[in-house]
Amino acid sequence: MTRVLDVVVGVTGGIAAYKAVQVVRDLALAGHNVHVIPTDSALRFVGAPTWEAISHNPVSTSVFDDVSAVRHVALGQRADVIVIAPATANSLAKLATGLADDLLGTTVLASRAPLVVAPAMHTEMWQHPATVRNVQTLRARGVIVVGPGSGRLTGADVGPGRMSEPAEIVAATLAAVDTRSHGDAPAQDLAGLRVLVTAGGTREPIDPVRYLANRSSGKQGVAFALAAAARGAVVTVIAAHLDPQPAAALAEVQLNTIEVGTAAELGDAVEREAVSAAVVVMAAAIADFTPAEFAERKIKKAVSGERMDLHLVRTVDVLAALVSRPVPGRIVVGFAAETVDDREQLVHLAREKVARKPADLLVANAVGAGRGFGADDNDAVVLTASGDIVADVSGTKRAVADAVLDRVVALLRGDGKP
Ligand code: CTP
Repeated sequence: MTRVLDVVVGVTGGIAAYKAVQVVRDLALAGHNVHVIPTDSALRFVGAPTWEAISHNPVSTSVFDDVSAVRHVALGQRADVIVIAPATANSLAKLATGLADDLLGTTVLASRAPLVVAPAMHTEMWQHPATVRNVQTLRARGVIVVGPGSGRLTGADVGPGRMSEPAEIVAATLAAVDTRSHGDAPAQDLAGLRVLVTAGGTREPIDPVRYLANRSSGKQGVAFALAAAARGAVVTVIAAHLDPQPAAALAEVQLNTIEVGTAAELGDAVEREAVSAAVVVMAAAIADFTPAEFAERKIKKAVSGERMDLHLVRTVDVLAALVSRPVPGRIVVGFAAETVDDREQLVHLAREKVARKPADLLVANAVGAGRGFGADDNDAVVLTASGDIVADVSGTKRAVADAVLDRVVALLRGDGKP
């Protein structure tokens, strides 16, 4: 161990408090100076003598103990990191609004140290819109949320809400200090800004059993959503048929998500949501055509014969509509997925596309032959509305998202060329 850390462990009132004993023990055994601040209800699960014995420090829940020492300010200012495990639904709500009616609440407000929370509650409470919103608020403020995991809860029920394992919480707590002291925590350069991301691929129904679709997995769009959230944005995702992996990654962080099916539904959702957005990222693959008519009953081959003609009509071009009505200060990012052989062709098609629909930034990538759709990595050229190339980005889809968001931030700040 390189440095002895001052760690405040907040414990709130849930049965998982017994698992927090291990968190305190591991931190203390690693040589750190641990101060446990239980809430009154936490003490109904695990008593003060236990916390004092394993942390080797006195324990108090009240701001009125040891008043001359102004404990909350002292603990808060001295802390290198604060971790709250378990964090109940009630404590997340209090943290989100900055309520400070006990020693833990006042200590959190008096501190500028990284804050880590490990939620634990029943699935219904974790998924309640109020909790979802509170978690979003906390994340937007840079709070690190560990878990919860899925598994057996207090009763016979099973689902998300189970507190993460102590080792994972300890690791996240120490990592929070590391990233902060090395200065490579994600910059909060989108803090509080509303970012709207479309992700996935639309499906256009032909009849009750068939549809026209595309190969978009939603991975790149979800990577944008997660990257923007990590930079402090308040993110809304309009999700069209995500593959299970990006869908799970998105569900884990509980970003505000609107599920849509068709190009028309996606267009309506963008129309509604883009009004208040500072940034719109149009990563979804949206159908350009939809069946002219929907057959109410399954189309039978006996009726169609040997050949079948399917009549398609153009869908609304959502990106084109957005950029035709620019909102001052709002940045729109478009995408171009092209089947090309080299970068020159890609840039040529991208320039044509951005001339037709002048998004502030256009992210162009080659697709087909195993590239693009469904892959974990991406390789893209980023152009401005006037067709200038501002970046060649490659790497994981998250890295691509962050590189593009760097350009978005530059545009928002009015730094001239992104
Ligand atoms: N897009 C859209 N609405 C559509 C189709 C596409 O908003 N109905 C958006 C996509 O989300 C993406 C961008 O437009 O950001 C690129 O779409 P694409 O279909 O590749 O471009 P087109 O201009 O339709 O050109 P083409 O089909 O000729 O490649």
